[in-house]
Amino acid sequence: MTSYTPEIGYAAIAVALGLAVYASAGAAIAARTGRPAVLASAERAAVGVWLLVTFCMLLLVAAFLTFDFSVRYVATNTNRGTPFYYRITALWGALEGSIILWCWMLSLYTLIVVGRYRRRQPALYPWVLCAMTAIAAFFLLVMSVPAPPFERLTPVPPDGRGLNPLLEDSGMITHPVALYLGFTGFTVPFAFAIAALATGRTGDEWITITRRWTIVAWYFLSLGLLIGGWWSYHVLGWGGYWAWDPVENAAFMPWLTGTAFLHSVMIQERRRMLKLWNLALVILTFGLTIFGTFLTRSGIIGSVHAFTQGSIGAFFLGFLAVVLLVSFSLLAWRAERLRAQGELDSIVSRESAFLLNNLFLVAVTFTVFFGTIFPLLSEAVTGAKVSVGAPFFNLVNIPLFLGLLFLMGVGPLIAWRRASAQNLRRNFVAPIAIGIAAAAILRVAGVGNVLVLGCMGLVAFVTGTIVLDFARAARARRSHGDGWPAATWGLLRRQNRRYGGFVVHLGILVVALGVAGSQAWSVHTETTLNRGESAQLAGYRVRFDGLTASEESNHFRVTGAFTVTNGGSSALDTLYPAKKFYRQEQTPIAYVDYRLGFLEDVYVVLGDFAQDGSHATVKLQVNRMVSWLWIGGLVLTLGTGLALLPEGRRPA
Ligand code: HEM
Ligand code: HEM
Repeated sequence: MTSYTPEIGYAAIAVALGLAVYASAGAAIAARTGRPAVLASAERAAVGVWLLVTFCMLLLVAAFLTFDFSVRYVATNTNRGTPFYYRITALWGALEGSIILWCWMLSLYTLIVVGRYRRRQPALYPWVLCAMTAIAAFFLLVMSVPAPPFERLTPVPPDGRGLNPLLEDSGMITHPVALYLGFTGFTVPFAFAIAALATGRTGDEWITITRRWTIVAWYFLSLGLLIGGWWSYHVLGWGGYWAWDPVENAAFMPWLTGTAFLHSVMIQERRRMLKLWNLALVILTFGLTIFGTFLTRSGIIGSVHAFTQGSIGAFFLGFLAVVLLVSFSLLAWRAERLRAQGELDSIVSRESAFLLNNLFLVAVTFTVFFGTIFPLLSEAVTGAKVSVGAPFFNLVNIPLFLGLLFLMGVGPLIAWRRASAQNLRRNFVAPIAIGIAAAAILRVAGVGNVLVLGCMGLVAFVTGTIVLDFARAARARRSHGDGWPAATWGLLRRQNRRYGGFVVHLGILVVALGVAGSQAWSVHTETTLNRGESAQLAGYRVRFDGLTASEESNHFRVTGAFTVTNGGSSALDTLYPAKKFYRQEQTPIAYVDYRLGFLEDVYVVLGDFAQDGSHATVKLQVNRMVSWLWIGGLVLTLGTGLALLPEGRRPA
């Protein structure tokens, strides 16, 4: 029976594209003329876009579930052996489908914006709607021309090629979804910024409205990055969570500018400064989400986890050019209104801590940007693609990050405007002593690496500032008669924004410890073992007990058994790393196994092996403090939740 899914899908996308263009134009006309009927019609069109994109998504899922190989995307990304739920996640397994997901999230955010702001923000709202639907129109254009998800495949093959085996992992459900929620989430503050510029209402209004949106987008991006790191760590088989790969950098850059933006808005709220800068930062952040996609999708730069490439590069580059041109023209047009009303009174003040925070974050962004596109620059100049490795990124960025940690301790406690000597003494003498003491203790304990000592000393310093501040505030509440639990709870509740920020900072500190510890103290070895033989590393013995082979639904698997002991006679664990052989892949895929620990993970990768299982090569790693990255992610989640609660009281 012929399936009409391709034609139906195409038609739905074409109609959605028409509606998005109509909604955007309608909203602009309504904004200029103030005609409510036009605005209402534009709103209905935006709802229509959401309905149609939802329909497209469901249609594609249905095609996956029914193995409709007349759709090329389905045939490329599944086969009859693909397990059920990977057939659903295959939706975003490659370029065309992930654009649908992107567009769907964007249309959903648009729907929420319509519901929330059409009455509350009559001045800004039409332009917000105009910008968001214009962006949706761009994605629908991409789905219509260079990356059609419903392209027909003839003749219809009896089976599909199958999903990239690396993607059969629980990370497939969470990582892309979190990242795209982050990327698309930044559309909302961006659209409000455009609306602020278009209407000339460039005061604090748009910043106050979008604070929660920004935090939500920023949080999802953080989560996507962390889950990506987790995925790299347990799937790619090299035992690392970060490689300064272009795809990683693509997500990291908007995270950096987004973090800068979260902070710089506080200066505008408090001191009426940095209006222009805030607008520029949010434009930059949104631009970087588009640029990242261009970079990872155009195929101009090689990456370990770019899964599909197509001809969409030119579209994204063109769109980026339009976005930047329109935004910066608006910015130039309104420059007069964006003059600061406050000014910097002293270098030793909270304002300047924030300014430095922004400067450092933008400097890291620039280095990452430069390092990522360097292969292109070098190719243009010398004809050879020279890629920039981790040493470059680390050399420049580690000092900047250490600087950021220092500021993270200083910023929240130093006085606004001008800090007195007394303010500095009162807030910083004790934490500095704690930081120095921590570094000294570690030095005596044998830690030699200066960067690690610096990082850990700074973490202790910042933790000291947070504890000091909180203890002081809680003591003040206690003097009003509250017990400690009530005082703590009361503070968190009443000043949830401030302490939410602090808890996020604590999360970052835990991540920083994880990064420093794992870089400095992880050890590894690679060796060939006969059956029954053991390898030793960092106090662990790992014995090779043999191999088993099995036929899985869509691949053939050879699994090794390794018994882990730590010197004693009883086994701690048995690990089963494997090699998976897929029909559609030339080289086997590693399946890593590890024993997760609070302080260290024992991590085993199966290498080459003898057919009869008599011997095998094994890569053995003892990775220290990697778990702290994931724990830091949990702390960050708590902090974000706290910061997002309705404000108990505006910070004093
Ligand atoms: C720290 C590590 C990682 C980071 C920062 C990262 C970053 C990204 C980014 C920026 C995107 C969106 C690409 C776009 O603009 O369309 C993406 C998508 C995706 N990532 Fe990752 N990633 C990481 C690790 C991984 C790993 C290890 C895998 C799988 C082995 C993976 C699988 C995917 C998939 C399937 C998508 C969605 C489909 C696609 O865009 O190709 N990621 N990731
Ligand atoms: C990369 C590291 C950082 C991250 C991820 C981060 C994240 C955050 C987040 C999410 C908030 C809550 C924002 C809100 O509720 O609107 C916050 C608040 C804050 N951050 Fe950071 N931050 C970082 C570094 C810094 C640095 C270097 C400074 C130094 C100036 C700083 C100073 C502050 C201050 C003063 C607050 C507000 C606390 C209050 O309301 O009093 N942060 N931070």
